[in-house]
Amino acid sequence: MSELNNIALKILENGKGILAADESTGTMTKRLDGVNVPSTPENRLLFRETLFSASSMTECIGGVILYDETIKQVSSKKNKIPELISETGACPGIKVDTGAKVLAGSPDEKITEGLDGLRERLKEYFKLGAKFTKWRGVYSITKNFPSRLSIQSNAHALARYSSLVQECNMVPIVEPEVLMDGEHSAKECYEKTSEVIKKCFEELILHKVDLRGIILKPNMILAGNKSEDKISNEEVAKLTLKCLKNSVPSEVPGIAFLSGGQSEIEATENLNLINKHNDTNFIMSYSYGRALQQSALKFWSKDIKNIEGTQKVFNHRAKMNTLAAQGKWSKDLEI
Ligand code: 13P
Repeated sequence: MSELNNIALKILENGKGILAADESTGTMTKRLDGVNVPSTPENRLLFRETLFSASSMTECIGGVILYDETIKQVSSKKNKIPELISETGACPGIKVDTGAKVLAGSPDEKITEGLDGLRERLKEYFKLGAKFTKWRGVYSITKNFPSRLSIQSNAHALARYSSLVQECNMVPIVEPEVLMDGEHSAKECYEKTSEVIKKCFEELILHKVDLRGIILKPNMILAGNKSEDKISNEEVAKLTLKCLKNSVPSEVPGIAFLSGGQSEIEATENLNLINKHNDTNFIMSYSYGRALQQSALKFWSKDIKNIEGTQKVFNHRAKMNTLAAQGKWSKDLEI
């Protein structure tokens, strides 16, 4: 089992973080539509391959989360994608859930699916070179939500997923995402996120998951994006640390935040402050999708053949976040 702990630590060593490039084809199509690039398998690969071959991969990125389509693709230089990633020193990972569906019994909430046949799919991904996996549970905050049913059933699924992944010698990323959409206050986000994370660990322990061999991927504690309640970045950092200190068992080696719709700079600034105030033993890094790729995608869409220019934009964001994961970022480093 210490092998899994080593993988988790390697992914997050020295301020390294995770590039979440595991958008499903539907989500990636939305992203590409947004910048007027046709969503073909070739274009999806070209953008992703451009990032995976960037120089910052070696110093900043410890892991890349792939989608099923990408892990089976071959690069323009005829490299298998997991090999291309491994050659940079980063670990290839794979999203294994099959998406959030309507939760029977509470149809305005979601339950993440994908447990049926998971053991067999994991064996296939392991053979393709995956060292870690991801599963995302998703929760909204309203007056009545997240319900006990949603908290309990998503925690159960995350735990069953995690124990299957460890059985197959990979590190599960456990991602319970409390969404920032809504009118809720930061205090409500703090309370609901604490409840969600505590229930996840209760189920992980029940399912005999080795907590030294997981990475937790939580949301930061933020006020809802339609809330009147505005809190400072300092308060975001302090509330986030307080929440995690009170709800995450000390065996967990690392925490890698999702960006969840924050702007690129906000996600970097908040991570930096979390690390400046970090008085825990947890590594606190990033596992960003949008906050690592947004500017690069916008730049790339203007000329999809401009590989070097796109990589420069991505390298900058990756470097800023790796500095933030060490509490060494400052605004004047932004260009
Ligand atoms: P964002 O950083 O864009 O929230 O994506 C992270 C992720 O992997 C969501 O599952």
